[in-house]
Order: sequence, then structure tokens, then C-alpha cells
Amino acid sequence: LTSTSTAHRRARSWPVVAVCALAVLAVSWSAFASQPAAVDGVRMVIRATARCSLLLFCLAFGASALHQRWPGRWTHWLLQRRRGFGLGFAFSHGVHALAIASLAQVDRTVFDTLVNTQMLVLGGLGYVFIAAMAATSNDAAQRWLGARRWAGLHRVGGWYLALGFLSGFGKRAAADPVAAAFLALMVAVLLLRWSVRWWPAAKGLAGSSSIR
Ligand code: HEM
Repeated sequence: LTSTSTAHRRARSWPVVAVCALAVLAVSWSAFASQPAAVDGVRMVIRATARCSLLLFCLAFGASALHQRWPGRWTHWLLQRRRGFGLGFAFSHGVHALAIASLAQVDRTVFDTLVNTQMLVLGGLGYVFIAAMAATSNDAAQRWLGARRWAGLHRVGGWYLALGFLSGFGKRAAADPVAAAFLALMVAVLLLRWSVRWWPAAKGLAGSSSIR
């Protein structure tokens, strides 16, 4: 990679990260303000950030498959900004973590009923992947890791997080139609990725997936 292409990627990514971060903060603030009691407000922020995270995650995780399935201006635009959306997802999930930590402060009893050790371990591993993927979402780290290891980390981390979303929304889908809609979106992105992988006719532009 030349320093010019690095500069171009940075110029494309940072405005996307900034817009995502501002949107996540605005949604979190209105979720918090919508509830009279602080504990309910914080719970709304946890849910709202999980939902923002899913949308941003799907844009980053599905960008390449979307472009291969429907090559065109918009999917190319998205593919080129995939890194920005991935970092936006990491920001959103950072706010999810902050809201969870605040819940422990605001109402320990509610926190203890909602969070168990299994969640802390499995969710904590999710955060290890998010941190590793965000820290390596730049050209220097990509060069340092090497293409194969970089792709391996992002593939395994991506699938682990997708499973986290399936289980998080899956648990709530029966009781909450909005959670069910988010679950359906995650399933749709996974099916799209599989379809592009297993139906070679759709692989016409496979080479373009090297844009990271
Ligand atoms: C230690 C780590 C984590 C903890 C302690 C945690 C805790 C929580 C809690 C307490 C809620 C429910 C809030 C409520 O109903 O009031 C929640 C919701 C959720 N979390 Fe997390 N979380 C963690 C990490 C993650 C990760 C890594 C993901 C995704 C990969 C995730 C995805 C979700 C989803 C999808 C929901 C449901 C949102 C909804 O109802 O629409 N969480 N989390």
C-alpha cells in the first residue's frame, strides 16, 4: 500500500466514524432522557446501543457480500467505508459497556438480576475481539499482522460477534417484536454471506473484497 492510498482510506473512514459516533451519542441521550427513573434510562441506553451496534456491525460485516451480490455505486461506496462503519460499531459497543458499568452503580440489584457470570465471560470475550479488531483497523497494523492473520482475526471475531447478536436478540425476540426484527436482519446478513460464498455465480467481483 502506498502512503497515498493510506491517506485516502483515512480521509474516507474518519468522517464515517464521526457521524456514527454522533448518532450513537444522540440515540443514547434520547433513550436515557425518555425514562423518568435513572435505572430505566440506563437500561434503555444498553438496549439502544445494542441496536445501533447491530446496524453498524451489519454494514461492516455485510459490505463485501452486498457488493458482490449487487455491484453498483452504493455498495461500492459502502465497501470503501467498511472500516469506518466497523470503528463506529466499536464506539457504539463501548457506550454499551459504559452503560452496563453505570447500571452496576445505579442499581446493583437490577444489575445482578440481568447479568450473570456466563454473560460476563462470553460478553467479555466479545469485547476482547472488538478491541483487537478496532486496534488492527488501520493499514500499519494490517501490514504488521500480515494479510492472512489479519483476515483470520477479523473473520473469527466477526462470526463470534454475530453469534453474540443472534443470542442477545434471540432471547428477546419472542417477547419483543423490535428485537425480532433486529434478529431477522442479522440472519439475513449471514444468509447473504453464505449465499455469496456457496453460489459461485455471484462471485463475479470477488477480487474487490480485498478493499478493507
Ligand atoms: C460483558 C459483556 C456484556 C454485558 C455484561 C452485557 C449486558 C447486557 C444487558 C444487561 C442487557 C439487557 C439490558 C436490559 O434488558 O435492560 C444487554 C442487552 C443486549 N446486549 Fe449486551 N452485554 C455484554 C456484551 C454484549 C456483546 C459483546 C454483544 C454483541 C455481540 C451484546 C449484545 C446485546 C444485545 C443484542 C442485547 C439486546 C438488546 C435489545 O433488547 O434490543 N452484548 N446486554
